[in-house]
Amino acid sequence: MYKSKAYSATSAASLLASTSIPRRDPTDQDVQIEILFCGICHSDLHQVRNEWKDVMPTVYPCVPGHEIVGRVTQVGAAVTKFKPGDLVAVGCMVDSDRNCPECKAGLEQFCPNFTLTYNFPDKHLGGVTYGGYSESIVVDQRFVLRVPSNLNPSGAAPLLCAGITTYSPMRHWGVTKGKKVGVVGLGGLGHMAVKFAHALGAHVVVFTTSPKKKEDAFRLGADEVVISRNADEMQKHAESFDFILDAVSADHDINAFINLLRRDGNITMVGAPEKPLAVAVFGLLMKRRSFSGSPIGGIAETQEMLDFCGKHNITSDVEVIPIQKVNEAYDRLLKSDVKYRFSIDMASLKSE
Ligand SMILES: NC(=O)c1ccc[n+]([C@@H]2O[C@H](COP(=O)([O-])OP(=O)(O)OC[C@H]3O[C@@H](n4cnc5c(N)ncnc54)[C@H](OP(=O)(O)O)[C@@H]3O)[C@@H](O)[C@H]2O)c1
Ligand SMILES: [Zn+2]
Ligand SMILES: [Zn+2]
Repeated sequence: MYKSKAYSATSAASLLASTSIPRRDPTDQDVQIEILFCGICHSDLHQVRNEWKDVMPTVYPCVPGHEIVGRVTQVGAAVTKFKPGDLVAVGCMVDSDRNCPECKAGLEQFCPNFTLTYNFPDKHLGGVTYGGYSESIVVDQRFVLRVPSNLNPSGAAPLLCAGITTYSPMRHWGVTKGKKVGVVGLGGLGHMAVKFAHALGAHVVVFTTSPKKKEDAFRLGADEVVISRNADEMQKHAESFDFILDAVSADHDINAFINLLRRDGNITMVGAPEKPLAVAVFGLLMKRRSFSGSPIGGIAETQEMLDFCGKHNITSDVEVIPIQKVNEAYDRLLKSDVKYRFSIDMASLKSE
């Protein structure tokens, strides 16, 4: 075991602050990684503030962060996939049971015994897992991803959650050329969804509550932009979408979007607001529409997504910050004021 510098929250009401956490010495299958960048996901904020207490209560101290890019510093004796110096990534999962039907199907995100990167029982050290707001991490090679060499590391980090979480449902629901696709909420997830839907050839419509993001939305790949608080603008798109991805982090009127789906259209939630949404069932049954959800993605699909990004030169638009600005960044997330992902430069942790 060794110590690693990190930032943690000690209660739902406390700010994140400098600390030191234990990491295991690499076992045979492990890869030790020096973390270069870690994205800030809105899930980090939900978790730190214990907003998901009914589903995944937070264990304190909590070290969030599951959008990790770093350099391999050491590998265990049985590691064949990686060597010191490789640029690698770790996302929301660091382990699973590997034997259940979900794992065998390459869908580790549905494994009943998976281990998330933070706030999950740590099989090696006891206590809970600690995430990427830290200097280094040790992860089984099966849960370590390769980063295409043409992608810049700070912009690649958010692909590990915002990227896979939006890529996976689009692949599942068949987003392709000729499909009309909506993206609700232009934040970290939303802006990746726009890039993917555009790269997959769909006609992309962005729904935003922030008129000042309109120009950016077009630059990111939108064909049309709708200010979702404007009922007339919304009405123009009634019953026309094949697929809508909703990436909103807070309470909002989901029925306004369900009504924009055509017959058999689907709306998938990736946003995970604290409180339940009220669904008007008639909106679903009259046109046989469906309303679903989707969590992250499996390891093989995450690698597929990273390779897709390498091929299409896709990264996240990031605002790189030192770790000392993390609390300020959380406040800005709550104001929808991020363009379009904060990526923490972990070199800033050295001065702590
Ligand atoms: N399913 C999964 O596996 C998964 C993975 C990662 C994250 N998540 C969840 O996805 C959600 C989004 O995460 P993120 O990191 O993309 O967050 P984010 O960067 O904060 O973006 C959220 C966006 O939602 C919109 N929004 C915020 N408050 C709103 C409100 N009251 N009404 C309508 N729109 C509002 C804003 O977009 P506009 O300014 O354009 O309106 C905002 O930029 C979070 O709940 C997060 O926990 C889920
Ligand atoms: Zn996330
Ligand atoms: Zn499993």
